[in-house]
Amino acid sequence: MNSQHPIGVFDSGVGGLTVLRALVQLLPRESFIYVGDTARVPYGSKSPEAVKRFSLEIAGFFRRKKVKMMVAACNTASALALPDLRAFMPVSVIGVIEPGARAALASTRSGRVGVIGTEATVNSRAYEMALKRLDKNVRVFARACPLFVPLVEEGWLNHDVTRRVANAYLKPLLKHKIDALVLGCTHYPLLKSVLGRVAGSVELIDSADETAKAVRSRLEQDGLLRHGRRKGRLVYFSSDDPASFARRGSRFMGGPLVRVRRIRLEGIDG
Ligand code: DGL
Repeated sequence: MNSQHPIGVFDSGVGGLTVLRALVQLLPRESFIYVGDTARVPYGSKSPEAVKRFSLEIAGFFRRKKVKMMVAACNTASALALPDLRAFMPVSVIGVIEPGARAALASTRSGRVGVIGTEATVNSRAYEMALKRLDKNVRVFARACPLFVPLVEEGWLNHDVTRRVANAYLKPLLKHKIDALVLGCTHYPLLKSVLGRVAGSVELIDSADETAKAVRSRLEQDGLLRHGRRKGRLVYFSSDDPASFARRGSRFMGGPLVRVRRIRLEGIDG
């Protein structure tokens, strides 16, 4: 393994591109292989066993590609599959939960933190445990917001319906007087403007930037940071139609996606 090898980043679909975008911004010399499991999205309503199995299949692909690090950009996969991925991979595996928890604790003054995510993420209590590991006095109020992912996928980022849904989801959390809200799902950073209007002065915590910093410091620790002038290479794989992945993904990546290929995963393709 050396610094020239790529970093493997995966998500259930296109949402994890918000994390990839932050990674590319912070680490422009690194090469990345992104896998979006669009054939099996969403992970957020699946059982822990299914999410673990899907994540391990993608890890198998990354092992064959000899990645130097693996990043679970998906909050649901980070919440449910991290220990299995770490046991399976011969390289460091970074998830988004711990970096998000750190960012929330750096921001809160009252020690009352809200967390929103998919049902699977919230049921796992992974954010709560990560927050309490870092600060045992923090109070955590979590809520699953299952309608947000389809609304973002539909492109209804500023739609009236989205505002009403956001109101219904967030109002009970705001009653707990939180002053930081973790956007514990890849899709939620795209709703920042709607969520910000509902949440008022509550700080919205996007774990993407913090995850990118965690990746950089782990690369430094592992002696695998890529130096030099050349920009890294980006290659995308999707488990369903690459053209549709490229089309929907550009909104998350903030620009067109080139080099999108089809990945054949065991569980899907036999
Ligand atoms: N990527 C997922 C997450 O961050 C959201 C979409 C899904 O449910 O698969 O939790």
